[in-house]
Amino acid sequence: MTSSGLSRRKLLQLSGISTLGALAGCASPLPGTDDGGGRAVTPRPTVTADPDTSVSLTATSGTIRPASDTSTTTWLYDGQYPGPELRVQEGDVLSVELANDLQEETTIHWHGIPVANPVDGVPNVTQEPVASGDTFTYKFRAEPAGTYFYHSHVGLQLDRGLLGPLIVEERDPHVEYDREYVVVLDDYLSREPRLPSDGGMGGGGMGGMMGDVRPPYEGLLINGKLPENPPTFDVTEGDRVRFRFVNASSATVFGVRIAGHEMSVTHADGQPVEPVGADSFVFGAGERYDVVVEATNPGRWFVQANALDGNEPPARAVVEYESTDGSITPQPPSSSSNRLQYGDLRARSSLDGVSGDPDRTFDLTLSRGRNQSYTWTIDGQAYPDADPLQIRPGEHVRIRMTNQSPVVHPMHLHGHFFQVGNAIKDTVIVPGHRGQVTLDFHADNPGRWLFHCHNLYHLDAGMARVVEYVE
Ligand code: C2O
Ligand code: CU
Repeated sequence: MTSSGLSRRKLLQLSGISTLGALAGCASPLPGTDDGGGRAVTPRPTVTADPDTSVSLTATSGTIRPASDTSTTTWLYDGQYPGPELRVQEGDVLSVELANDLQEETTIHWHGIPVANPVDGVPNVTQEPVASGDTFTYKFRAEPAGTYFYHSHVGLQLDRGLLGPLIVEERDPHVEYDREYVVVLDDYLSREPRLPSDGGMGGGGMGGMMGDVRPPYEGLLINGKLPENPPTFDVTEGDRVRFRFVNASSATVFGVRIAGHEMSVTHADGQPVEPVGADSFVFGAGERYDVVVEATNPGRWFVQANALDGNEPPARAVVEYESTDGSITPQPPSSSSNRLQYGDLRARSSLDGVSGDPDRTFDLTLSRGRNQSYTWTIDGQAYPDADPLQIRPGEHVRIRMTNQSPVVHPMHLHGHFFQVGNAIKDTVIVPGHRGQVTLDFHADNPGRWLFHCHNLYHLDAGMARVVEYVE
């Protein structure tokens, strides 16, 4: 199945990003930043302090049951799906011992947290993958506060069940709320994930030269449940309820609504924004939004998340007021009239080191590979056969992306937050059909960091680069 022009229009509207003139181009050469590159940065120290929280996670096979008549044996953390929620206080030292009980090697990546490079979990870039039967300890300071998730970063393992939420609680939240729920969205594959070139996408071939195909998902999940078996979020009238939405899917852009309630969007990719009202938002794989809802409309209401580029029935959960008869049919959302756009997001604090002109700019074209095989490229190169993007410590780096394919690419940078418009994020959708997005970041975390599309199939088919610090 290919993505439609309609979803392109929706996404352009979402992001408010222009489709003007596609600039192909190369990175500026590394020498020649005589003034700009000189700001000192202190590398994140490897954490030596005793951990405040120590947990172990075992990657192992297990069975999930997303609905009463459906089950699949797949790969999980601690046999749970989603994996165990890790929850710590901002600034705490978290130590996680990964035990690999799979027959394959694996790693864990802490999506969104700017950890020190050696614990970032990218195989063959920041660590040797953890062999079957081995263990590896990840230790890092959990900051800044936010809604994150952790997942395997090896091959297509994320599209099994190797993922879980990671919540870093703020000491002093900028919004008040009485209770909260973590809402993990996922697409449900009940068989081994494979690339289309390996016969993984069912009957549809590879989607033509330019387009894409979607893995043969059986459905869409909220907190591991199919819509016929929706989880319930209990609320009391008068509560302010915080929902932490995580798009942990491998290939799904979700549009999210809560029936009967206006959302106040309070955090984007975990980082606080000035609260902004919306009745829906769209997010790509790897993005997160926190919203606060005032429970002032008793009843039973669906939280609903539909795939923008898929035709599976929407994922659902039920918001249920304590005062309401639990047998009445939940109400679905009406159509959206006020969808969140990136331009609505205003970060509460600014990112250091990204004001004024950049010291270095990369113009990158995102596209489908030109040959018969299933590849996705950044500037014509498919990772791992791809040049690193070299930067110097302290630089203000700008990446301008132009998407020459018809499908959306949610691009994620490891190890750093970036500024996009007035938001601070770590993952950003680049719309199809010459959509353009510019992001700026401060090179303040030396190491080798992956920059990639968070559509797992695009990543696995080459849509990645290493951002490499050089002295
Ligand atoms: Cu959540 Cu490199 O990814
Ligand atoms: Cu992509």
